[in-house]
Amino acid sequence: MDPYRNPFAPGAGFPPPELAGRDPILELARISCGRALRGKAARSLMLLGLRGVGKTVLLNEIGKIAREQGMLVSQLEAPEKNKLSTLLYPELRRVMRSLSGIEAARQIASRGMGALRNFAAMFKIEVAGVEVGIEEAAPGLADSGDLQHDIPDLFTIIGEGAQAAGKGWVLLIDEVQYLSEDDLSALIVAMHRMAQRGLPVVMVGAGLPQVAKLAGEAKSYAERLFLYPAVGALDEISAKLAVRKPVEEEGEQIDDDALDAIFSRTKGYPFFLQEWGSTSWDVAPGPVITLADVERAYPETLSGLDEGFFKVRYDRLTKAEIQFVMAMAALGDGPYQMAGIAKEMDRDQSSLGPARANIISKGMIYSTDHGFLDFSVPLFAEYLRRRDV
Ligand SMILES: Nc1ncnc2c1ncn2[C@@H]1O[C@H](COP(=O)(O)OP(=O)(O)O)[C@@H](O)[C@H]1O
Ligand SMILES: [Mg+2]
Repeated sequence: MDPYRNPFAPGAGFPPPELAGRDPILELARISCGRALRGKAARSLMLLGLRGVGKTVLLNEIGKIAREQGMLVSQLEAPEKNKLSTLLYPELRRVMRSLSGIEAARQIASRGMGALRNFAAMFKIEVAGVEVGIEEAAPGLADSGDLQHDIPDLFTIIGEGAQAAGKGWVLLIDEVQYLSEDDLSALIVAMHRMAQRGLPVVMVGAGLPQVAKLAGEAKSYAERLFLYPAVGALDEISAKLAVRKPVEEEGEQIDDDALDAIFSRTKGYPFFLQEWGSTSWDVAPGPVITLADVERAYPETLSGLDEGFFKVRYDRLTKAEIQFVMAMAALGDGPYQMAGIAKEMDRDQSSLGPARANIISKGMIYSTDHGFLDFSVPLFAEYLRRRDV
């Protein structure tokens, strides 16, 4: 059918034509923001899930909702190597500046600008472009050089400014698993302070499933500070809706048995739904997408995934790491016990520690609640087995 009208959106963070099955999570976020704006205690959220389930899309959507409610919104993606301080600085500055445009918050914001300069100096942040001439620096604010003091200081000023302005602030952070323990601790301490002082600041993070554990290890009270909604594969009804509705909105149709096939082989994983929906649309002569069309589109869907979604991740592994994940895949679908992997590789378990740690830090595998290992990319084991033949 007409590729120009293809409604599907396979791609990292691409907004799907139908954001199916996520109303409960969006509602949680809406309530948190609404409560913060009303001066009520608001829970922060940490969206946890595998790659390609739609975490980034949800963060963007939550940002939109928060803006509509009148909150200030900052959005960051934790990089693998960069520091939180560097990443956060320009966002904090932007928020302080917009607060300084509101009369009721002007004084607080100008104190905040001073604090921010202290912070930039302490953490040696590139300050090109910071305007000079802010009347007074702010001695004693955000200048300890200890992130766990200074980040809470800065957030407090923003929270007070937002409160004075009758606004709130939402901080969205993607790929939280890449934050160092110090950085994560500082954020948690800061959010703890926000909660204690009743300041209208909400954090919504997103990351791989191990983030709950990382946060708990960084600060034991993190568990009570955040809600951890799981973002997973879509259930059958939502998954089918995610494919059928966009097709129908383009004035076309898709058969039920075609939807059955898509659901059963994608297991409802959003990224795969978009990819297969898209190729099916393209190969179908129309006007109805049939089971035969969907089957015909399958090899193309797979090679699209193999060349894109899977390969970009595979390519980041070293040779030794590849042997490790290949051994996992050879054992079938996860989760996997370390002892089993070692046995499969004919190696000593302890000698595999570094490879294991590296693959985890690359965000490719994670340790499950029960101490097993599993892939953070859905259907990755199948992909590795395909490669291996
Ligand atoms: N609820 C949903 N329904 C249908 N498709 C979705 C949904 N959420 C995400 N997608 C699609 O899934 C893909 C991956 O989304 P993304 O937010 O990048 O995932 P993640 O950040 O978890 O890796 C995108 O193509 C997006 O359009
Ligand atoms: Mg993402």
